Amino acid sequence: MLMAPDRARSSLATVLLLLVAAAVVVGAAAAAAAGKKKPVVPAVIVFGDSTVDTGNNNVIGTVLKSNFPPYGRDLQGGATGRFCNGRLPPDFVSEALGLPPLVPAYLDPAYGIEDFATGVVFASAGSGLDNATASVLGVIPMWKEVQYFKEYKQRLAKHAGRARARHIVANAVYVVSVGTNDFLENYYLLVTGRFLQFTVAEYQDFLVARAAEFLTAIYRLGARRVTFAGLSAIGCVPLERTLNLLGGGGCNEEYNQVARDYNVKVKAMIARLRAELRGFRLAYINVYDDMVDLIQHPEKLGLENVSEGCCATGKVEMGFMCNDKSPLTCDDADKYFFWDSFHPTEKINRFFAKGTTAASLSLLT
Ligand SMILES: *[C@@H]1O[C@H](CO)[C@@H](O)[C@H](O)[C@H]1NC(C)=O
Ligand SMILES: *[C@@H]1O[C@H](CO)[C@@H](O)[C@H](O)[C@H]1NC(C)=O
Repeated sequence: MLMAPDRARSSLATVLLLLVAAAVVVGAAAAAAAGKKKPVVPAVIVFGDSTVDTGNNNVIGTVLKSNFPPYGRDLQGGATGRFCNGRLPPDFVSEALGLPPLVPAYLDPAYGIEDFATGVVFASAGSGLDNATASVLGVIPMWKEVQYFKEYKQRLAKHAGRARARHIVANAVYVVSVGTNDFLENYYLLVTGRFLQFTVAEYQDFLVARAAEFLTAIYRLGARRVTFAGLSAIGCVPLERTLNLLGGGGCNEEYNQVARDYNVKVKAMIARLRAELRGFRLAYINVYDDMVDLIQHPEKLGLENVSEGCCATGKVEMGFMCNDKSPLTCDDADKYFFWDSFHPTEKINRFFAKGTTAASLSLLT
């Protein structure tokens, strides 16, 4: 195609400019990944359940804890309250964005507001979108996580000044991972009566409405760049396989279908919020498909066991039942998808974090 010389020159200039801009963005991310240059965002701020709790449950009155070995056995410094042999996805996201390699728990007395200024976790193992879920094991409900976030903003303004605090809150990446416990620890455990009150489809709608409330609440408090994880293949966690006697110990396909249906509703809710709330950058994280792909093709990550946990018998243990007394705990967690009967190994968390990091970077442009 022929163009007038002037237009050709200006198109060329545009292309060059775009290339330079792209190189700058890629360069900044790469430099940050190497931990050398300025961070890409001021902070990583985390809400949810055990998939992202880095130690808040250590200091509250619940039996749902993991601050003892063999939890943390592949982490320098040992057990922290992370439900894993090593790090969780937000830790990897933080490091990839040029921030510290471990994101501290808000209630951990070893850390202060100067640490939380670059990253903080409000999540609590056992929590859910439904208030009733957190009450099952006496953990921190989502509304309380939001209260802590409000308090954090005030402390941050005192520590860093109002303008800087506003900048941090508006430009931080928010990681939200919650929902599994609403089904596995509440609805299907029959302990709260929700199964009498709602059909499973109604309960999905109820949870999605709670998620929308939560996301709107943090938006009103200043959050703008948020990743929200969908449900994983919850029927494939070892505990559910163990309970799935009729299914011969395979994945519980009914639960997986519930997760897929819920995820469709979550995606629609996210699209609606994006349209309704000005400047809200919101990304859905598809955990489900990645998890099923790895379970079907374990060789992709060099996994040898995707059906049972590394800790103890791998069939039922988590929390206090996963402890140093078991002679059965596996030697190399990197060969396993699951660390305990409910939670992935560090290797899997690192893999999942790549998707969240990429989504986070996409929210910055
Ligand atoms: C959950 O609990 C909080 C605090 O009591 C309350 O404000 C909120 O309305 C509750 N949510 C629902 C859906 O009941
Ligand atoms: C997975 O690990 C469990 C517990 O360590 C073991 O009993 C089971 O046989 C393993 N399965 C496979 C397919 O290797």
